[in-house]
This record gives sequence, C-alpha cells and structure tokens, in this order.
Amino acid sequence: MDYSIRPRRLRGNSTLRTLLQRVRLNRSDIIVPVFVCEGTRVRREVTSMPGVYQMSVDVAVDWLKQMSQIGFGAYIAFGVIDRTKKDALGTEACNPDNVICQMLRRVKDSGNPMVGITDLCLCEYTDHGHCGPLTADSKTVDNDNTLSVLARQAVNHARAGADIVAPSGMMDGMVRAIRTGLDEAGWKDVSILSYAVKYASAYYGPFRDAADSAPTHGDRRSYQMDYTRGVEEALLEVDLDIQQGADMVMVKPAGVYLDILAAVRQRVHVPVVAYQVSGEYAQIKAASERGWLNESAMILESLTAIKRAGADLIISYFAPQLVDLLD
Ligand code: PBG
Ligand code: ZN
Repeated sequence: MDYSIRPRRLRGNSTLRTLLQRVRLNRSDIIVPVFVCEGTRVRREVTSMPGVYQMSVDVAVDWLKQMSQIGFGAYIAFGVIDRTKKDALGTEACNPDNVICQMLRRVKDSGNPMVGITDLCLCEYTDHGHCGPLTADSKTVDNDNTLSVLARQAVNHARAGADIVAPSGMMDGMVRAIRTGLDEAGWKDVSILSYAVKYASAYYGPFRDAADSAPTHGDRRSYQMDYTRGVEEALLEVDLDIQQGADMVMVKPAGVYLDILAAVRQRVHVPVVAYQVSGEYAQIKAASERGWLNESAMILESLTAIKRAGADLIISYFAPQLVDLLD
C-alpha cells in the first residue's frame, strides 16, 4: 500500500483534532425557549419533554435571569393560556395584559439584557387550536382575516418590550402585514424573525402538550408546508418573506431538514435561524432515559450538525443542559 494522502494523519490525537475543528458550538448560538403560563409560582414539567417546564411569569422572569447570567443572549417566549380564555378568534392574543406581555415588561424591568423574541401566532389562543380564525366552512384558517390580528399582537408585544417578533403561522403576507402594523405604530426598530420555512411535521407533537395548542379538528397541512415537495418551495417562501421585510428567516424542524437549511443559507443574505423542535428533543431524551443513546453526545452532535449546515442561531430546548457540555 502506498498512499501519500492519508486523512487519518490529521486525526491521530486530540490536540490535532481540536486544532482542526471548524464548527464550534457556543452559548451565543443558542436561543432559549420559554413557556409562560398563568398563575404564580407555577413550574410544571411537560410530560413529553422532561426538563422543560411551563412557568408562570414570576418563575419565568427569575429563570431567564439565570439563563442570562450563564451566558445566553436571547429567549423566545410562547404563551400557555387558560382554556377559559380561549375563543374562536383567539382574542386573548391581543390582550395587552396577557401572560406574554406581562413577562416582557417584567424581564425588561428586571434589567435582563437578553434579546426578547415572541412567537406570534394564534394557535395558543384559539379554542379550536388552529393558527388563526377559521373560514366560514371551518375547513381552514382564513388567511387574510388573520393578518390584522397578527399585526395587533405584534404591536402589543413591541409595546411590552419585545425586541423581535416571530410569526409562526405560515400565513401568506404575514410579514408585510406585521411590518406595516409595527411601523405605523412607531416600532420601526422591532425586528421580524419569520418562520419562513415551516413544514407540517409530526415532530411538533410534544410542543402541542407544552403550549396546549393541538388543533381540535383537522391538521395544519393547508397552511404549513408539505415535506414531499422539493427545496424550491422553501426558497420561494424565504424570498417572499425577505421581500416583505423579514430581518431573519427560520427553518423548522432542523435536524431532519438539513438539506433545506443548507439551501436557504446559500440563498439569503440575512441571518438564518434553525429550530430544533420538541420532537427532536423528545427523541433524544426518551432514548437516553432507556440507556440506548448517550445524551450528552447526542446533544452536541445534533446541534453541531445544525450549525454546520448553516444556522446562525439555533432554538433548542437543550439550552440549560448545554452549559455544562460546553465548559
Ligand atoms: C405555533 C408553533 C408551533 C411550534 C412553534 N410555534 C407548533 C405548531 O405549529 O403546531 C412547534 C415547536 C416545537 O415543536 O418545538 N405555531
Ligand atoms: Zn400556530
């Protein structure tokens, strides 16, 4: 055997391996998700997401302070609303005193410097669990009637202290409607992180427990994307959202959509965020609990792969656990 090129030479010891690392995960790559519920002193673990909690505003504010102190720079907040406050239109979403607005104000008041991102959607607020008011036949979400509600929700979040709003409902024209709404209300510096590429996915299952947002009938396939189509539709979605004023775009889920993530990264000149979703988290947790996978290794490998594929930022429920792994 006479091979002059032997790639193994550069893998021979750990110093060499460290030297040649290109993709290195940092805390500053990670956006911390938080589920904010009603009440006080509530800290309720999500059954299908061990280690993830629904927290009332007071608990969430303290926890986010800790997250900031250990080096995280951004969070994304989801509202968990009492069933009695839900209705067909998702009215509570536009209540300037709902749990999300309360939390935003208190996080800012506490002097926490983290960038505050809010999920902008109606599925957490509607009694039917869909991402906007329904059409007359109840078969799908009424796209155009949803837009004005999203704009109002965005303005409320901005007023309460949100730095970035993240519309996740996959409504056509949502970014334009929100941008116009924010600008008209004087919030020109509030950014939009669009969930531009969001597939209808079984990987969202545990989230719907966490946010109590499962649709009571049907599914989201008439608005979220179809994973049996090609990458071109993802590129169309990001193009449209950037034309409409998106400051950043998201790809979701992350781990099984790395091809889409890589293509989006090549296409756009804005930051790309990837969402390691609830099902990706639950899979790793469940298999690790059974001793079938090494949890720490899985966390690092899955997140590094997402970063390597092109994510500038990653939303991950592993954030609190990641701290020890990076030290
Ligand atoms: C709301 C929303 C969902 C997720 C983020 N925002 C659920 C859905 O679309 O059904 C999923 C996140 C996750 O699974 O971790 N539209
Ligand atoms: Zn939704």
